[in-house]
Amino acid sequence: MSAAPQKAKAGAERIDVTVSAVVPLNDLVTRFEFQRRDGADFPPFSGGAHTVVEMKDGDRSRLNPYSLMSDPADLSTYAISVRRDDQGRGGSLYMHNNVSQGDDMVITYPVNLFSLDLRAKKHVFLAGGIGITPFMAMIEQLERSNGNWELHYSVRSADLGTYTDVLTYKYPNKVHVYIDDQNQAIDLETLLDGQPLGTHAYVCGPKGMIDWVHATGSKMGWPDENVHSEEFLAPAPGEPFEVRLCKSDKTITVGENESLLEAIERAGVDAPFLCRGGSCGQCETDVVASDGEFIHRDHWLEEEDHASGKKIMPCVSRFIGKQLELDR
Ligand code: FES
Repeated sequence: MSAAPQKAKAGAERIDVTVSAVVPLNDLVTRFEFQRRDGADFPPFSGGAHTVVEMKDGDRSRLNPYSLMSDPADLSTYAISVRRDDQGRGGSLYMHNNVSQGDDMVITYPVNLFSLDLRAKKHVFLAGGIGITPFMAMIEQLERSNGNWELHYSVRSADLGTYTDVLTYKYPNKVHVYIDDQNQAIDLETLLDGQPLGTHAYVCGPKGMIDWVHATGSKMGWPDENVHSEEFLAPAPGEPFEVRLCKSDKTITVGENESLLEAIERAGVDAPFLCRGGSCGQCETDVVASDGEFIHRDHWLEEEDHASGKKIMPCVSRFIGKQLELDR
């Protein structure tokens, strides 16, 4: 019998894990594997799901979302692959520099914001760089059910082609790799044009790639609901600002390099989240009063919500001004 999950905070239920393997894959990417500390199986997940990994970095907690890339049929282990980002806010560097096999960590229950549409006749995956990770799990899932899929995977150089060797070995007829520095590029129009009716396309990679696939799909008459994407935004740094949390009766300062959500959590106030990247809607917070300018960066709120000054997504958005009061 599996142990009861840790008491849920508002974000998502947590699971105590041990790092069971750390596998460097190339100069930038390392795979981390986890097993539950209580020895039980992990909760089931489907391809495209992510977990949020908590990192205790001194007195600071970082919580970063990563796609689960292990086989959904094997619940003894969860695996993520982390690309080191030397310019980032430190989460990926923390994973690369501080996390070793045998360490205890805490991760959240999986949540899927990028699931396969199983009504699709065929699934076309478009990956850029580390955007390959959700497709690793989706491919395993579809292989078990004889799903019809193909992968078009663009990498910067042959050396940085994470998992290209495994994928091309296992699925030589379904996996197509494009190497940027050899001037290879996906011919997207031809690719989308040649698909049977009822095909769904999924893209995960840099923002430019995601926008390109959506724009090309729509130009070629693909229904919007047949083109799926996942992009977790990293919160951007900015000028510190002060916030009054009305329900909790606290005033906090959001630092230059932390998100509003992180500052709320640092003050000991429980705040909901799932993606921490501006796309799930979970952290939506009402603004009680404000005098200043919002820097909205989420993909969730409508333009009129942004313009109204009545809502903010604290995982990615910031504020510049004299006064901000939130219903939190
Ligand atoms: S936590 Fe998902 S939008 Fe903020």
